[in-house]
Amino acid sequence: MPILALFAAPAGDWAEWEAPLGAAFAAAGLDVRLVTDADPAAVDYLIYAPPGTVSDFSPFTRAKAVLSLWAGVERIVGNASLTQPLCRMVDPGMTGHMVSYVAGHVLRHHLGMDRHLKRNAPVWDQTPPPHPSDRPVAVLGLGELGRACAAAIAALGFPVTGWARTAKALPFPTDHGEDGLRRVLGGADIVVTLLPRTAETENLLDARRLGWLRQGAVVINPGRGALIDEDALLAALDSGRLGHATLDVFRQEPLPPGHPFWTHPRVTVTPHIAANTHPPTASGVVAENIRRGEAGEPFLYLVDRARAY
Ligand code: NAP
Ligand code: GLV
Repeated sequence: MPILALFAAPAGDWAEWEAPLGAAFAAAGLDVRLVTDADPAAVDYLIYAPPGTVSDFSPFTRAKAVLSLWAGVERIVGNASLTQPLCRMVDPGMTGHMVSYVAGHVLRHHLGMDRHLKRNAPVWDQTPPPHPSDRPVAVLGLGELGRACAAAIAALGFPVTGWARTAKALPFPTDHGEDGLRRVLGGADIVVTLLPRTAETENLLDARRLGWLRQGAVVINPGRGALIDEDALLAALDSGRLGHATLDVFRQEPLPPGHPFWTHPRVTVTPHIAANTHPPTASGVVAENIRRGEAGEPFLYLVDRARAY
C-alpha cells in the first residue's frame, strides 16, 4: 500500500510543491500518494505550512510526523492537538536565500548605498566607507541560518560576533546569556536577528537592550517581528540612537497599510521574502524524513517542544 502524505499547506502553495515533492519521492524510491484531502485516520505524514489546512491534529491517529515546510514553527508548535513528532525545515536552498538577503543588506548599510542612490545634486563627495575590518557585525541566533549568514559575512572581511542561547565553539567569536548580549550589541555597528519566536525571545530587543546598541547602529531583522518591541524601535530610530532598521518580518503580516514602518525614513520594509523555502531542494528533505519514518530511523530537524524551536 502506498504511503499517504497529506499536503496541509495553503492551497496556493500546491502548484509549486506538487512536482518537486513527487520527483523527490521517486528519487528516494518511496511509493507516496500525495494528496490535498484525505480521511485523517488514513494519513501517514502531514506536510504543513502556515496557515495550513489542518488546525486539529487529533484525528490523524496514524500519522508518524508533521513535516513543516517552514523553518519557524511558532504557529504550530504550541498546538495542543499536535501529539505527533514535528519536524521543521532545514533547507540548503532556503539557507542560500537567507545568506544573500543578509549579505546584501549588510553591504547596503556598510557601503552607504542609500547616499548614492538617493543623491539629488551633483555632489562629488569622496568619503569612503570604512574598511570591512572596521565594521563589526553581530548575528543573534546561531542556528542553521544564523551560522551560515555569520560565516558569509565573516568571509567578506567583517569582524563577526555571534550570540545564542547556549555557548558555542565556532570559527568566529560567540557569546551567550544576558551579559553576553550586552557585550555583543555594544560591540557592533550592524546587528542581524535570526532567532525563532518563542516566549523567551519575545521583545528580546526592548527599549533597555536597544539602549545597549552603538549610536547609529543598524538592525536587520529577517527572524520574526516579535523579537523587537515596535514602539521601542521607533523611539530609538526617532532619537537617532538607531541609524536604520531593515525589517522583513512583522507581528502582523501583511504589514497593515497605515503602519508607521511603511513611511518611516529610517525603516526599510521587505515583505517576508528574505528566505522562502526552495521546493527543489526542500522536497528532498521531506522525502528523507519520510524514508526515515518508514525505516524507523530518527527524524531530522525534530522540534524540541519544550524549547519551542
Ligand atoms: P535554528 O536552527 O533553530 O536556530 C535558532 C537559533 O536561535 C539557535 O542558535 C538558538 O540557540 C537561538 N535561540 C533560540 N532561543 C534563544 C534565546 N532565548 N536566546 C538566545 N538564543 C536563542 O533556526 P534557524 O533555522 O536558524 O532559523 C531561525 C529563524 O529564522 C526561524 O525560527 C524563523 O523565525 C526565521 N526565518 C525567517 C525567514 C524569512 O524569510 N524571513 C525564513 C526562514 C526562517 P542555541 O543554538 O543555543 O539553541
Ligand atoms: C519563514 O519565515 C520560515 O520560517 O520558513
